[in-house]
Amino acid sequence: MSATNSPTAVVILAAGIGTRMKSPQPKVLHSILGDTLLGHVLSAVAPLNASRVVVVVGHGRDEVTAYLNQSWPQVSTVVQEHQNGTGHAVKVVLEAFPELASGTVVVLAGDSPLLTTHDISELIHAASNCQAAVLSAHVDEPHGYGRIIRNGDDTVCCIVEEKDATDEQKFITEVNSGVYAFSGELLATSLASVTAHNAQGEQYLTDVVEILTQSGHSVRASLTTQTNILGVNDRAQLAQAAAILRNRINEEHMIAGVTLVDPQTTWIDRTVTIESDATILPNVHLTGHTSIATQAVIGPDSTLHDTTVLLGAHVTRTTASGAIIGMHASVGPYTFLRPDTVLGEGAKAGGFVEMKNAQLDAGAKVPHLSYVGDATIGEGTNIGAATIFVNYDGVDKHHTTIGKHVRIGSDTMLVAPVTVGDGAYTAAGSVITEDVPAGAIGVARAKQRNIVDWVLRRRPGSKSAQAALADSSRKHEEGA
Ligand code: UD1
Ligand code: MG
Repeated sequence: MSATNSPTAVVILAAGIGTRMKSPQPKVLHSILGDTLLGHVLSAVAPLNASRVVVVVGHGRDEVTAYLNQSWPQVSTVVQEHQNGTGHAVKVVLEAFPELASGTVVVLAGDSPLLTTHDISELIHAASNCQAAVLSAHVDEPHGYGRIIRNGDDTVCCIVEEKDATDEQKFITEVNSGVYAFSGELLATSLASVTAHNAQGEQYLTDVVEILTQSGHSVRASLTTQTNILGVNDRAQLAQAAAILRNRINEEHMIAGVTLVDPQTTWIDRTVTIESDATILPNVHLTGHTSIATQAVIGPDSTLHDTTVLLGAHVTRTTASGAIIGMHASVGPYTFLRPDTVLGEGAKAGGFVEMKNAQLDAGAKVPHLSYVGDATIGEGTNIGAATIFVNYDGVDKHHTTIGKHVRIGSDTMLVAPVTVGDGAYTAAGSVITEDVPAGAIGVARAKQRNIVDWVLRRRPGSKSAQAALADSSRKHEEGA
């Protein structure tokens, strides 16, 4: 086999049913850290620059194929109609793509999301000096895995499946990860003589190892950690894999200079970028294409999806999706930023504020208890507490435009479409349905009238009436 690190092909086995997940969804499409199990495997494979990557699909083929067409369009699929075993799955691929037999073929399973590019490269390197190599690991609990049987010279003699192993072989703790690199030519000829004469009645890919060694070829094992080979078969392993991946990602960020106050409760997708000297407080989830700039402080208790946070911004107890949070802006607590919210430099979206498709220019503030939907708000403007942007008439959404240095009084209803000019005010409690010109105050509320002694007449003897009477007699005594 040529001593190259660029394999001809990568074959990913993903046709199995995944019974133990107890899910209508194909196992390889279950997600951890924002990507499917299969996606994580494909991400580890991608840097190898294989000339072809083939995924073997069977159970749930429509969903898996749809996912691949959408997210990995360059990947080929081959259907294995009946799951007659891992050896059979590879046979089906070589029948569909006979040209693969002329190079190196790497085979791995679609449910091993913790494999690294480094593991696979090392394996290919090990195989370059012989005819095949298998990725193995010493594990604490080998039950269920195929055991690696070594020759005296340290090469691999064969792999014995759990169900076919003798009691003595079951004590072996070096196991088969299910990842291999083969000379394609020898793989094709060996597979032709693989049978299903074993405990499971399946054509085992692992039998290729013994067929090779018995015909005088040598097979090596490349060791990695038991963590990296973890396969996901049930929801407990799904959570275990997620925690390991979370720790790996968090460690990379901490080494790169990001403070994670509580890495155990910090979940960051691979697709997220964080600059050094940012601080992430406990219980923060950063997902999708979120980016966090230096000196920003996020958390505690925040979920940011596809959100951009610029230099020095503070985001506390916030849920945001598709938002841009400007330099030194401040968000939270208990704030909900929905898609197309843009906060300018030093802007503020305070407690119990919801925003959607709204632009808050530099220094503008929505400090308390407001809904801001479909609006542009000029620089230096202040939106009083409990203001509602009434953007929806039941049929269409409408836009509100607020100028610079405006003062919107507390509890204003801004009924869109409406415009408030630069420097204008609105009176607290106004329902603004018409434009307010620059510099004007819009007052739109009923004039107050007080009906004297109404409580004494209409609610006699009530606590309110007693309190009112006590107040008037005290004032009388004081001679007020
Ligand atoms: C396999 C290995 C075992 C190894 C273990 C590592 C064999 C015979 N055994 O066992 O030595 O320790 O992986 O996890 O290979 N698949 C298909 N088509 C099939 C059968 C399986 O695509 O006909 C796929 C499955 O979806 C899965 C992978 O191949 O992704 C492994 O198959 P599985 O049945 O889980 O093999 P194991 O018994 O775990
Ligand atoms: Mg398995």
